[in-house]
Order: sequence, then structure tokens, then C-alpha cells
Amino acid sequence: MSKKTIVNPKLYEIIENAPEEEVKRQEYFIEKLKEEIHSREQRLGRKLKCMVNTFGCQMNARDSEKILGILEKAGYEEAEDEKHADFVIYNTCTVRENANNKVYGRLGYLGSLKKKNPEMIIALCGCMMQEEHVREKIKESYRYVDLVFGTHNIYKFAELMVNAVYTNKQIMEVWDSTDKIVEELPIVRKYSFKSGINIMFGCNNFCSYCIVPYVRGRERSRKPEDIINEIKSLVNDGVSEIMLLGQNVNSYGKGLENPITFAELLHQITEIDGLRRIRFMTSHPKDLSDELIDVMASSPKICKHLHLPVQSGSTDILKVMNRRYTKEQYLMLVDKIKARIPDISLTTDIIVGFPGETEEDFEETIDLVEKVQYDSIFTFIYSKRTGTPAAKMGNQVPEEDVSRRFDRLLNVVQDISAKRMERLTGRTYEVLVEDINTQLEGFVTGRLENNAIVHFKGNTSLIGQYLNVHLDECKGFYFLGTAV
Ligand code: SAH
Ligand code: SF4
Ligand code: F3S
Repeated sequence: MSKKTIVNPKLYEIIENAPEEEVKRQEYFIEKLKEEIHSREQRLGRKLKCMVNTFGCQMNARDSEKILGILEKAGYEEAEDEKHADFVIYNTCTVRENANNKVYGRLGYLGSLKKKNPEMIIALCGCMMQEEHVREKIKESYRYVDLVFGTHNIYKFAELMVNAVYTNKQIMEVWDSTDKIVEELPIVRKYSFKSGINIMFGCNNFCSYCIVPYVRGRERSRKPEDIINEIKSLVNDGVSEIMLLGQNVNSYGKGLENPITFAELLHQITEIDGLRRIRFMTSHPKDLSDELIDVMASSPKICKHLHLPVQSGSTDILKVMNRRYTKEQYLMLVDKIKARIPDISLTTDIIVGFPGETEEDFEETIDLVEKVQYDSIFTFIYSKRTGTPAAKMGNQVPEEDVSRRFDRLLNVVQDISAKRMERLTGRTYEVLVEDINTQLEGFVTGRLENNAIVHFKGNTSLIGQYLNVHLDECKGFYFLGTAV
């Protein structure tokens, strides 16, 4: 046995004495990590720095806040960049191939940093790690990665970190699934005044192109009382805007012991005093209920913004995508929403070049986009994900057709969103000030209820405040304005 594989006796002792119950156990490991970090600080004569890099969606962003929460509790400070970090973690996304490539590209750079600072710890987690071929590649080509874990055991991060700091070999622990939701671990929020909140994990929809159900597992809802208590404590802490997170929030609550609907949950949340803005994403069109539209229409706290991914305007393609609605059903739903909430801002996701997509199918998408008049659209080129049904479909669309369609869609989308944005010019809206503007000196950036962005004169003292801002000029994707 090489020296490297001998279990450190100190680690053995720590693990032997760890409590069984999960929250207590992780708190114990945070304390143990803290002791080790402290002794390294003493030896180096400086604080240890960490860097958490997030790829992908809001769920990953929220997970990263949990990781940072644990790191800070253990004594790490946030580094300015990777070069000055003693611990770097990439929380990865695998929804499209380019997300994976970015990670591989950056890993090479991390390897070169580690050569200069051999004590640096490199970790990888998130959706990409749930894929076997990725893990194989890391084992073979990226031996210097110290710790790899997945989406299901993220709550064990403190325990895994303790293992990593006392071991010299690569630790790889990824689970296929979990039915556990571990509450009450420390979190560091990126913003003091707004926060994402998981209401559910996983996805049961299996859209034929999508890897998410395979890497995030089956749908699990948190208990409403846990969600409400978390929001109340955030509000006590100064948060006034929340974003409820789930891959398909409209099917929230189905598996609970006492099932409740998303609309009911939303209604209960609107009653929390001190909370001013409620957002949620993502809504699957097939499950969007009349009850939800009613709750949205009747509560001024719920932002009048709905992200309603359509993916394609062709009923034939939607069927092969396993989306379970037709173009006509989607359009009827949109009409119903617009009739009940006239000032609603609608946004969507569209995939171009799904296997078998013809020119006619694509024209249906353009037609739908023109009919709905979205405020903004996220457009994606279809990316083949190993393990999904669509990856095995024979009729992949030639690259030049895809890129021609993609450019055309982009043009149509830009015209429509510019027109939709333009109509707000000259009006005054309440905005929540989020940040100092890094491009325009002396400006801050605020967000309207409909998710549009406005830059206007101001300073740090305004961050987290609600102000009325006149929208002076539309610049395409954002506004320039003046506080009134
Ligand atoms: N749960 C959300 C979306 C999660 S993924 C929903 O169902 O709406 C975010 C977006 O990525 C999807 O809406 C889809 O447009 C896009 N996407 C997912 N898989 C993709 C793939 N294989 N190729 C290209 N885009 C994809
Ligand atoms: Fe993917 Fe469909 Fe689930 Fe969204 S609903 S995460 S697109 S499988
Ligand atoms: Fe990506 Fe995972 Fe989110 S694959 S989009 S980070 S759920």
C-alpha cells in the first residue's frame, strides 16, 4: 500500500466519534474542519481563502450559497479570484454540451495554479458529476482534483471536506439518488435583500432532450411549513424579495404526506408580513392551473412575470419532446393569462434544431413567438445529451440549418422584445435597487417587478431599497432612468 492510501489516524478518530443524526453530524464536521483550517492559518500566518464558482441555473446558485455558508463557518474567507484561493470548487451544469466544455477548459488552468500552491484543494460538484463518463474522465485525466461529489449528497459537504483535508488521494462520492431533504444547514446569501428558496428538488417530466431528471433525480417537495419558516426568518433578516425555485413549480406538493398545490403554497406565502416581492420559476405549461392564475392576479406581492418555457411552436416537435401540450393549448393558456393579468410580462425558452425539426416546424415557432409577444426569450441550440431519448434519434438537423434558423429567431426575438420594452418608456415604476453599476460611474441598477433592468444615478446607500424610477430611455435590454 502506498503512503498516500493509508487512512490518517486523526481522520479515523474524527469519523469514529461523529454523531449519527444528519444535521448534528454535519455541524460536528464543520467544527472539525474549522479546527484544521485554524491550524493551517497558524502555520501559514494568514487567513485561508476560498472560491465557489457556479455554472447553470438558480438551483445551482442556491446550492453554492450553501457551500459558501459551510466554508465561511469553517473559517475560510472569500477570495477575489482563483489565483489567490486555497480552496476552489466548481458547481457544474450539464444541461448543454458547452456547459461541460467550459469546466474542462478551466480545470487545466486550476491544475497549473495547484502546481504553484500544492496545498490548494480543488473540488467539483453539481450536475455534471452525476454522469459516469464525466467521473471516468476526471479519474483518468484530472488526478489533481481532490474532491468530487454530486447533487444528492451536497448536504454532506462538510463531512466530505474533512475527508479531503486529511487525505492525499482523490475522493469521489456521487450518489444515484436520495429521498432525503436535509434542512437547517448554514447558508451565505449573495444579496442581503433578496434570496432564492428551494421549494422542490428534481424533475419527473423527462422531456426527451433533457438531462436534468437524470442528474437531479425524482421530484421531491419540501414541506410547506419548512418553506414558510425559512422565508419568515429571511424576512426577519432583511430580505424583501424571494424567488421560489423548482424545475416545475406547478407540480409542487404532489408527493407530500399532506398534499397541497403550488397555488395554495403561494397564497400562504403572500400572507407573510414584511415580504414585498414574490417570484417563482420554472412553470411547466402543462401543469399551470387556473387557481395559480387567480392567486397571481389577486396578490400585489406576486410579481407579474411568468417564465413559461414553450421549447417549440410545432405541435409535432412538442410531441416528440414529450412536453405534453400542443401549440394551440399553449396559445390558449397564454390568452387566458393575459385576460386575467393584462400587464403580465411573459418570457420563455426555445430550443432550435431538435431532431427532426423541419422548416415548417421552425415557422410554427416563429409564428408562436409573434403571437405571444414575449418580453424576452432564451434561445438555445439543441445539444445532444448522452442518456436522453433524443440523443438516439436518427434525424439530427444539419448544423448549417440550425445556425440559420437560430439567427433568424434571434432577429425576430430582438425586434419583439425591443417593442415590448419600448412601450414602458416614459412611465414610472417601483424598482428594487440591487447593485452598483460597474459600467456607468455613479449609477446603480434596479429591477422592476416585470424583471426589466434600469440604471439610474445613485450610490451604495440605496442598495436593497425600493424607489420610484422614471424610465427615460430604452436601450434594448435595459433602461436608463431617473429616481423621482
Ligand atoms: N425545468 C425548466 C428548464 C430547465 S433547463 C423547464 O422545464 O422549463 C433550462 C432550459 O434549457 C430549458 O427550458 C431548455 O430550453 C434548455 N435545454 C434543456 N435541455 C437542452 C438541450 N439538450 N439542448 C438545448 N437546450 C436545452
Ligand atoms: Fe428538463 Fe423538462 Fe424537467 Fe424542465 S421539465 S427540467 S426541460 S425534463
Ligand atoms: Fe444545469 Fe443542473 Fe441546473 S444541469 S440547468 S445546473 S439543474
